[in-house]
Amino acid sequence: MRRLRVIGVGMGPQHVTAEAAAALRSVDHVLAFAKADDDPLLDVRTAICREYGDPPVVVIEDPQRDRDDPADYPAAVRAWHEARVASYAAALREHPGDVGLLVWGDPSLYDSTLRLVDALAERVELDVDVVPGISAPQLLAARHRIVLHEVGRPVHVTTGRRLRKAVAQGQDNIVVMLNRTLDLDDLEDWTIWWGANLGTTSEALVAGRVGDVRADIDAARARVRAEAGWVMDVYLLRRPS
Ligand SMILES: C[S@@+](CC[C@H](N)C(=O)[O-])C[C@H]1O[C@@H](n2cnc3c(N)ncnc32)[C@H](O)[C@@H]1O
Repeated sequence: MRRLRVIGVGMGPQHVTAEAAAALRSVDHVLAFAKADDDPLLDVRTAICREYGDPPVVVIEDPQRDRDDPADYPAAVRAWHEARVASYAAALREHPGDVGLLVWGDPSLYDSTLRLVDALAERVELDVDVVPGISAPQLLAARHRIVLHEVGRPVHVTTGRRLRKAVAQGQDNIVVMLNRTLDLDDLEDWTIWWGANLGTTSEALVAGRVGDVRADIDAARARVRAEAGWVMDVYLLRRPS
């Protein structure tokens, strides 16, 4: 049966584990979605493949997602996922052999690859395995030399969109991903450990009391975006004790 290997690659070639490197060397092709000709993450994926066995990268144009109507967000995401599954199925037909799908960070956090693969496996017979990678919150913790929670306490991982809900629920340690903007109003006394474009040459870090470092974060975010042409950030917020 054809193998389909879902491979977490962290934030670049330096994070590729020995297991992920072996998986890359074992496949006949890597399938990669690209948003545009100059998708910066596609360049990173290509660089990773070059370094680890150089499997050919089959670039698939990412189907457009309707972002104009947030009220119908779940339907828009569903339609986008269906279009992506159809694109994968077509690419598999055109490219026989074992296939790797590279996942930014780790497939277990805010990544739809495994859901797409489940849908794909209903159409095509596949032997699927997953190789874990280093995810953005792990790298954030390492860069700031912190544990994401106090001794024996929980940590809550959520999106920028749902931050207010987590605060209202009483969560004390909140890791926030997928931030379109930073909404930190009324959280001045919380402590933040923030990082953008972690693991890349434009990496930026800021930590401190939100009220004291808010302007530094805004400035760093703008600087990173100007330098790299894109910005992805993640942060830990801790409630004042
Ligand atoms: C679609 S999710 C993918 C997460 C990924 N699967 C992981 O394990 O980290 C993308 C979000 O992850 C975070 N992220 C990914 N790469 C990052 C990086 N290099 N620096 C900071 N945050 C990053 C950001 O919050 C971004 O909006």
